[in-house]
Amino acid sequence: MFPKTLVFLYFIFLNKYVTLASDPDPVQDFCISDMENSSANTIHCKNSSTATVEDFVYSGIKSPGKFSPTGLSATSVTSNVFPGLNTLGMSFVRADFEVGGVNVPHFHPRATETAFVLEGKVYSGFVDTNNKIFAKVIEKGEVMVFPKGLVHFQMNAGDSPATILGSFNSQNPGLQRIPAAVFGSGIKDELLEKAFGLNSKELSKLKKRFGPH
Ligand SMILES: *[C@@H]1O[C@H](CO)[C@@H](O)[C@H](O)[C@H]1NC(C)=O
Ligand SMILES: *[C@@H]1O[C@H](CO)[C@@H](O)[C@H](O)[C@H]1NC(C)=O
Repeated sequence: MFPKTLVFLYFIFLNKYVTLASDPDPVQDFCISDMENSSANTIHCKNSSTATVEDFVYSGIKSPGKFSPTGLSATSVTSNVFPGLNTLGMSFVRADFEVGGVNVPHFHPRATETAFVLEGKVYSGFVDTNNKIFAKVIEKGEVMVFPKGLVHFQMNAGDSPATILGSFNSQNPGLQRIPAAVFGSGIKDELLEKAFGLNSKELSKLKKRFGPH
């Protein structure tokens, strides 16, 4: 028999573990990554005595980038492109939508996202692990939260362009788009045909659309 207090402590521990599962806390004021001297696995801080205000300002999302075939332009600003974010546990994205433009179902394995509508009307939502959907049209000035790791999506539901600013509680939230992960990654045709009830013609159409270009 397990003593009750042990079970209790176990749940406290579980709870702590869950609430602490985010980017680690910084151990210094900041650590601007030194792009020249860092590799993928080791990020070195630039000597802090050489830091300037420019290290803490990012100017790359004043305007939208290139639009995808689904009418979306998304520019992610992670610590990889904004070295000043390194170790600070957050990052963001600017997303612009043409009229009717779509951000396909996707998820961020390492972060919760808040999406603030700067302009327009956006049908926004996510699906929980019971496949329950939470979706509605949100307007300029409204914010929606997409819980960490859950599949979410957006579509411009207005008759003018829309813009969103998304914020993440990780400097490297990760992004996995469902269509590309499923049809563009090289999973065996036979498996995909069986899993989705597709014939080979239907499958090759999807693979062509979502495969690497
Ligand atoms: C990068 O490392 C080299 C050798 O380790 C050093 O000489 C150089 O000053 C470093 N560059 C910066 C920007 O710190
Ligand atoms: C950082 O730069 C200062 C001033 O140039 C220098 O005195 C110091 O030794 C440097 N620190 C490191 C760790 O390189």
